[in-house]
Amino acid sequence: MSSDQFDLVVIGAGPGGYTGAIRAAQLGLTTAIIEKDSTLGGTCLNVGCIPSKALLESSEHYEAAQEQLKDHGVEVSHVKLNLDTLMARKNRIVGELVGGVDYLMKKNNITVFKGRGEVKSTSEVAVHAADGIRTLKTKNILLATGSKANQLPFLPYDEKQIVSSTGALSLTQVPKKLVVIGAGVIGLELGSVWNRLGSDVTIIEFTDKICGAMDAKSCKKLQQILKKQGLNFVMQAKVTSADIKPGKVTLSYESLKDGSSQNLEADVVLVATGRHPYSEGLGLENIGLEKDQRGCVTIDDHFRTKHPNIYAVGDLVRGPMLAHKAEEEGVAVAEIISGQFGHVNYETVPGVVYTWPEFASVGATEEDLKNRKIDFKVGQFPFTANGRAKALGCTDGHVKILADKNTDRVLGVHILGPRASDLIAEAVVAMEFGGSAEDIARSFHGHPTLSEVVREAALDVDKRSRQM
Ligand code: NAI
Repeated sequence: MSSDQFDLVVIGAGPGGYTGAIRAAQLGLTTAIIEKDSTLGGTCLNVGCIPSKALLESSEHYEAAQEQLKDHGVEVSHVKLNLDTLMARKNRIVGELVGGVDYLMKKNNITVFKGRGEVKSTSEVAVHAADGIRTLKTKNILLATGSKANQLPFLPYDEKQIVSSTGALSLTQVPKKLVVIGAGVIGLELGSVWNRLGSDVTIIEFTDKICGAMDAKSCKKLQQILKKQGLNFVMQAKVTSADIKPGKVTLSYESLKDGSSQNLEADVVLVATGRHPYSEGLGLENIGLEKDQRGCVTIDDHFRTKHPNIYAVGDLVRGPMLAHKAEEEGVAVAEIISGQFGHVNYETVPGVVYTWPEFASVGATEEDLKNRKIDFKVGQFPFTANGRAKALGCTDGHVKILADKNTDRVLGVHILGPRASDLIAEAVVAMEFGGSAEDIARSFHGHPTLSEVVREAALDVDKRSRQM
């Protein structure tokens, strides 16, 4: 094969694209990946999951130094925020991980092209690079171009005063007043960061609940906890217009409860109202590929578009916009191309909101099961009764397990509590194996650990937990 001819060309080097490329290379396919941005890793590594986690961690330390360390007998005076150092740490972490993806491409002999990838035909992809256009020939194509933040028409992003999550990860000073539009994952995580760093944060949400479709009772509890932490919420409200002046934005919003109109001022506005699939300049029209109403590229159950050698994964297609979902789909595509049985189990995709406490979920909610008329049992246990949570100083929250009433099979697990992001992994594995609440209840859990709360919730499904 010449150097511009491949078994697989991947467009987009985010988690779906680079993970799929690595699996393809491992399976012996000659693989190329095209990325339009200057670094690999996509939204997740560069301006999403990773930098936000770095900021969350730093802001938690800042708050701990001011509020919580004294409880531990650690007296700290003159606590001062150095935002430049905090941002430099975040940038260093991103840089190391992005460098790690470069390394993985080299290690797996994946050819990286920097430029915009455009599908020209079912066997040709053009790379529009700074130094010209080059055409790659390929047997298969994987589209993994991700998503972009939704924009409100009257709030165009300048990423300084009106910011998407990208700008909110790199503010150069702590805003006095930050208004966040949307109480979804991004709004709550980045709202928490800037609240802890000193901003007066108000979150305006269109619906009557935070965190979208996640377990309703846990959402309510989380909202109460976040309110105590200082976040202000305006629920069931629609922002209708904005007056943008240097240093000050005045938002007008309408209450959906009583129709009244009110104003809210901010130095910075974060718009976090969801994301949409990104396929600009990808050349879908060149090969007659269709998108659904949400802008998702249409695929079948095996990630194939209407052309059997062209696949699409991640935020570009249906399903939750999550890095780990994209990764599994990328791997599945590589395996399908190689003649294996690549498969993704959408029943067990966990979702995590990295507030403090964290909120993690997998499988069905009570609301889903009621709608589907499935009889279920509920086991619940609070972190207040757990020794490790007490030692950690975070006893807010609970674990809730939903199991089939007849078979005891675990149908959903919802964890609001410290390190819920890690605790949910046990539930994912149990569900992947078709496990029952009894299986979790009878499995050893080290003592003292937070995971004992998961076990107690499983015991509570049959009302035999050691609740006080
Ligand atoms: P989202 O879909 O999670 O939440 C958007 C919220 O904005 C919803 O509650 C919606 O009702 C509200 N909304 C929409 N239009 C509005 C309006 N005009 N006025 C007021 N409220 C409005 O979207 P978000 O937070 O922007 O995140 C985008 C995507 O990125 C999501 O799919 C999310 O799963 C993903 N993500 C995942 C993370 C994680 O896994 N920890 C972290 C960050 C993002």
